Amino acid sequence: MIIAIDGPAASGKGTLSRRLARHYGFACLDTGKLYRAVAWKILDSGQNPADSQAAETVARRIGPADLEGSRLTEDRVSQAASVVAAHPGVRAALLDFQRNFARHPPPGAKGAILDGRDIGTVICPDAEVKLYVTASAEARASRRFKELQESGAEAIYQRVLQDIEQRDARDRGRPTAPLKQADDALLLDTTALDADAAFKEAVDLVEKKLAGKPR
Ligand code: DC
Repeated sequence: MIIAIDGPAASGKGTLSRRLARHYGFACLDTGKLYRAVAWKILDSGQNPADSQAAETVARRIGPADLEGSRLTEDRVSQAASVVAAHPGVRAALLDFQRNFARHPPPGAKGAILDGRDIGTVICPDAEVKLYVTASAEARASRRFKELQESGAEAIYQRVLQDIEQRDARDRGRPTAPLKQADDALLLDTTALDADAAFKEAVDLVEKKLAGKPR
């Protein structure tokens, strides 16, 4: 069984996916890490994220070992990930890895949860359950701002909001696999929900969806 979770940056879909995976005994893949890994390698080797050829070459060599490490969460990597993710060749190079994880999750897992931008629309259009997790840009920026402050990093709220709006525009506006709600995805707006309430709501949505389908 596959659960597809999509949504914009900092919507809480990562935390939610991990909690759902624990709850259902599923394996979880944060597909944003694939694009972040490509972005990090491009920046680290002094290349330009806008260079589609270079990014595609890097993407073809990405493997599980590249998905670890806190370096992937750096802000410069977030922005560059959104740039490399717009190259069709990069998306094509990362497709098999994601579909393979969805169809053959690690041993012991009862299913797979993938979260990203195009899981329900492109990667796993046949997923049994699709959630589209979103929140207002201001709510997402406030959460990210709080996280940065708590980690001791210097942060300016307006700058965080601007970064989120820029990534949203790029992720929604690209021609290939743009961020959008799949027709059959269930909407979960977390603007007014904390992490526990969002998790409870998500479990309700998953259960309702499964109740309507033979397992
Ligand atoms: O979910 P995230 O913030 O870690 O994703 C980083 C970037 O990767 C995001 O700006 C867009 C891109 N991405 C994508 O295009 N498709 C996905 N399935 C996941 C992420």
